Amino acid sequence: MNLTGGFTWHWLAWRSQARWAPTSHAIENWLMQQAQAFKPEAVAGQPSLLLIGASAGWMMSSRWLGQFARVDTFDIDPFAGTLFKWRHGAALKEQGTELHCHTQDAMQNLPALLSKHPKACVFFDNVLGQLRFQHPANDWQVVEKKLQQLKVTLKGREWGSVHDRMSGPTLETIAEGSALPVRHPDWHDQHWLTQLNAQSPWLDHLTHSVFPTGVSVQDFAWNFSPRYRHWLQAAWVRP
Ligand SMILES: C[S@@+](CC[C@H](N)C(=O)[O-])C[C@H]1O[C@@H](n2cnc3c(N)ncnc32)[C@H](O)[C@@H]1O
Repeated sequence: MNLTGGFTWHWLAWRSQARWAPTSHAIENWLMQQAQAFKPEAVAGQPSLLLIGASAGWMMSSRWLGQFARVDTFDIDPFAGTLFKWRHGAALKEQGTELHCHTQDAMQNLPALLSKHPKACVFFDNVLGQLRFQHPANDWQVVEKKLQQLKVTLKGREWGSVHDRMSGPTLETIAEGSALPVRHPDWHDQHWLTQLNAQSPWLDHLTHSVFPTGVSVQDFAWNFSPRYRHWLQAAWVRP
């Protein structure tokens, strides 16, 4: 059973498009900034992308994907590829990007995928924070180790991720159309959680050490539902 995707995810994502749009736009802007800042390597030198946990790309930007000559998507959900093509296929074709969708466990197969695509960039699309749901509760340390190991597996590669850092209920209902909280660079985590109106305890998605030390990490708020928020983190790592 797929605890982090599948039909439930598609239904929720389809219904929540308007609520989630500000976060999707913020992620798109951030991705485009990365592409512009590092164009020579990301686009000219490494023109292809492995998109892991792609689902139908409900929160993914066609504009950013169009920066690559070829995109390969991976998801364990058998419906993901068809839905991804439906949502992004035409826009990618228009931008001249080749699209290939695969149904497979890309976390398990990561070393093989990296060998098969030695020059491709890798992007984990809101999947790393879900790993804890795919393991029994007492295996948290195993999950943390796996997540920490990723940067070693990906050494020498251009890669990025957006994923849950924490999530939980809010003290008050999030007003529709209210501005997304934006984290000030000087704020420590507790201050940021207060701005998110977090009602303790929040769930730790065990992703605190995914990125190598020194990499610039961007925080996003995601109004998941009227009384539930996620704190997302994203970074782009260059060799
Ligand atoms: C929270 S959803 C995010 C989906 C997508 N990024 C989007 O914006 O619609 C997480 C996705 O990761 C997929 N997933 C979970 N474990 C995976 C794995 N080991 N390999 C590939 N995909 C996986 C799930 O099936 C699900 O579609």
